Amino acid sequence: MSLSTLIHRSSLPGPEVNADQARALLEEHYDRGGTLRSLGSQQDLNFRVDTENGRFVLKICHGDYAAVELEAQHAALQHLATKGLPVPSVVSARSGGQLLPLQVNGQAVQVRLLDYIDGQSLTHLKHMNAELMAKLGEVCAKVDLALADFDHPGLERTLQWDPRHAQALIDHLLPVITDAQRNARIADAAAEAQGHLQPLLAQLPVQAVHLDITDDNAVWLRDEQRQWQLQGIIDFGDLVRTWRIADLSVTCAALLHHAEGDPLRILPAIQAYHAVNPLTLPELKALWPLIVARAAVLVLSGEQQVSIDPANSYSRDNLTHEWEIFDVATSVPFELMEAAIVQGVGLALPPLTLKCAAPLLPTLAGQSFSRVDLGVLSPLFEAGNWEQPGIDQALLGEQAGKTGQATSLHGQYRLSRTHIDNPHEPETCALHIELHVPAGTPMQAPFAGTVKQTADGALVLASEQATLRVWGVEVEAQTQAVEPGQPLGRSNGPLLLQLCRVADLCPPLFCTPSRATAWLALCPSPRELLGFDCDAEPIIDSASLLERRDASFARSQKHYYETPPHIERGWRNYLIDMQGRSYLDMLNNVAVLGHGHPRMAVESARQWSLLNTNSRFHYAAIAEFSERLLELAPDSMDRVFLVNSGTEANDLAIRLAWAYSGGRDVLSVLEAYHGWSVATDAISTSIADNPQALSTRPDWVHPVTAPNTYRGAFRGSDSTANYVRSVDENLARLDEQKRQVAGFICEPVYGNAGGISLPPGYLQQVYAKVRERGGVCIADEVQVGYGRLGEYFWGFEEQGVVPDIITMAKGMGNGQPLGAVITRREIAEALEAEGYFFSSAGGSPVSCRIGMAVLDVMQAEGLWENTRVVGGYFKERLQALVDQYPLAGAVHGSGFYLGLELIRDRATLEPATEETATLCNRLRDLGIFMQPTGDYLNILKIKPPMCTTRQSVDFFVDSVAKVLSEDL
Ligand SMILES: Cc1ncc(COP(=O)(O)O)c(C=O)c1O
Repeated sequence: MSLSTLIHRSSLPGPEVNADQARALLEEHYDRGGTLRSLGSQQDLNFRVDTENGRFVLKICHGDYAAVELEAQHAALQHLATKGLPVPSVVSARSGGQLLPLQVNGQAVQVRLLDYIDGQSLTHLKHMNAELMAKLGEVCAKVDLALADFDHPGLERTLQWDPRHAQALIDHLLPVITDAQRNARIADAAAEAQGHLQPLLAQLPVQAVHLDITDDNAVWLRDEQRQWQLQGIIDFGDLVRTWRIADLSVTCAALLHHAEGDPLRILPAIQAYHAVNPLTLPELKALWPLIVARAAVLVLSGEQQVSIDPANSYSRDNLTHEWEIFDVATSVPFELMEAAIVQGVGLALPPLTLKCAAPLLPTLAGQSFSRVDLGVLSPLFEAGNWEQPGIDQALLGEQAGKTGQATSLHGQYRLSRTHIDNPHEPETCALHIELHVPAGTPMQAPFAGTVKQTADGALVLASEQATLRVWGVEVEAQTQAVEPGQPLGRSNGPLLLQLCRVADLCPPLFCTPSRATAWLALCPSPRELLGFDCDAEPIIDSASLLERRDASFARSQKHYYETPPHIERGWRNYLIDMQGRSYLDMLNNVAVLGHGHPRMAVESARQWSLLNTNSRFHYAAIAEFSERLLELAPDSMDRVFLVNSGTEANDLAIRLAWAYSGGRDVLSVLEAYHGWSVATDAISTSIADNPQALSTRPDWVHPVTAPNTYRGAFRGSDSTANYVRSVDENLARLDEQKRQVAGFICEPVYGNAGGISLPPGYLQQVYAKVRERGGVCIADEVQVGYGRLGEYFWGFEEQGVVPDIITMAKGMGNGQPLGAVITRREIAEALEAEGYFFSSAGGSPVSCRIGMAVLDVMQAEGLWENTRVVGGYFKERLQALVDQYPLAGAVHGSGFYLGLELIRDRATLEPATEETATLCNRLRDLGIFMQPTGDYLNILKIKPPMCTTRQSVDFFVDSVAKVLSEDL
């Protein structure tokens, strides 16, 4: 059958058989009744059949469809099943046949019944992660591997989707697009793809392939961890013998729809395929052209289908989808994708063999050039100066002013190119160098080639091996063809230089980190042409650094994320990785002022240069800082201890309670965390931090029911009495045993649950009961205190109580180890009976100066007010998510201490643990650091630096909303 006849026929609507007629067929030939539901399809007529004995698919196609092809499909299903692949089996009819040629409504049809595979396709997924892309690539590889030894006469067919006919099909169908611009886009892309494919064709292995392993035709179900697991591969209608690589090209083209505009996102599918079923180099090179050709074919077939059968909504919906795939497929140069694919499977592109016969800048060759570091760690950058427009040029100019010349570095990730509150990677990697040289510096041809000038003022020297582009030259070349050493011109300003090994390709000057390896292979360093080193030092490999960490740093000290980004710089409420991507930091409650604050650097440098010693020496900072802390504390408090952490502060508070009360028994709140030392760990029962927490309490610890008014034992704000009862019970038991209670410790805003307010009046009642018995009330303000709550400086203010001891740390040093215990003199003095208290670094001059500087900056920059105002706005925006997305269950906390709790069911409050983990990982892709908290790890722990802006809040909430609208 000729291709054009085939195209014509395949675009005809499917046979006309209604559900009643189909049901009759089923009863007559298969002895089955049941309910039928039409399944969308382009040509065949498919019904899902639900019977008492299971589900099936009834497939009806035109009678003149070649039976041998349908038989080939059945044989392939059998072949794959014996090799252990999940495919539907064919159900035999009463007659024993698997393929029934019948007449319905006067039309000849062929009928088959297949098992139905339960599950979902992945078509609906708005976002598909790399893991899932890889899984689909792997499925394709396994099917190809299994079909490699499959043969059948029905495989020799003329199929319009067979890429061997792509060009013929495109030529045939092009006229269906009447819009000249669109028509030309398809024609050009197809011609370019054909040009790339032609030299490879003879080397492409051929075998039987499915040719439609797409998001549509693989069926999946989620497991308990909500991971997609393959249930089966369906729809063998395109089974054919053709190039093996064609199969993966079809899968990849479908994945482009899930690539969010970035074709490089499909690389995991190719890598996964190659790992299972290794591809040859010609196949790897043919892959992208085949994908582009497929995209063109899809668009044209879709347009054709719609023009013939405008009422077919299935085809209509598909067409938009096909154009999207085409747009993504044509958004990058072929050479870039080829490089990315080849490198992606671990192969290197052959090195550039460019002979440089004469230095480009003869007067400067061999000189030592000033290399200007514009990278993320450059000492030239501090306090956000990289945000100034033109800073790189200014720094290069400044250096050239001192040494006569200066160069930027090829392949360097430039800090000035970062951007904030942005879901996309920034284009930071320099694919060129910028040279500052004396005006009028002569330039000569380093290799033989032809010279031309482009509209944007670049001088272009092109040879077969490479093209050199230079901006900033006064061109002098007299002829078009130049020999090495022939003058080209003179510099008339800073020179921008870019080398590219692909003729006629105009690479960008910068690219994103994920494209850097591929682009750098196409745009190698111009070092050889210059005769001096202009290459950036490679950045440290993040994966091997992580291995070193794991091999030396005890593993119980976890890191965020499985493959964490490598972070060495921070600025304000952003953390910047080594490739210059800024992540919005929504986690760092310690860095209250933000990262990289210049006042911190100045203050610590100055005090270090003067003195740093221990608090047994007499220096002003310790008195000044203690006084300032007391000014912030309730009037009844008049003594300060300075330590180095929250753990130490709480440990000391317990000792103070023991010393003051004479008892040892401490009441703490279940699920809380207070520190890692023996005593603070004893009172910490958060199972997220310690899964054995509940079974390992020493006998002096008496945990009371966690007062979680959202999902705790008692819910709602009128649950106070119920929660107090748990305290009463514990106290009564101690009374009965005649044990002296030492004290009660809790966070005045319940931290582990994401910042839930305690039930009203809870602390008033509990404090009174504990004090009645001579116990001490400790408020752990390590997280919630110091203005983070926005409305209150201390968490206990919300409950209208004053504790006997306040413990604090975290933000008070903005990251400098600094903790404090504030209390009354009589409690402080009780410890003296047990001897002296001394901490070598606690209250050191450096810590005290930093502590005071933190308070100064908070005041000067209005951070408490910012927390109140922007934090209030933040909570409102999060609350709106609760109204809009079923998964968003509740918002807890206030100011910059917030928790968004994710649940699967509003009645049962079933925690959405896996969804929360997925959400956090997705947010990281979008440039945001966020982690789960709570015993079920289903709450977003939102505790950003207190300089966080409204813009960052909007970026965060919009990103969360975007991800919540995806199928988590
Ligand atoms: C409420 C609370 N108390 C105490 C601590 C312990 O503080 P540090 O880590 O400074 O020892 C923490 C730490 O997360 C905390 O959240």
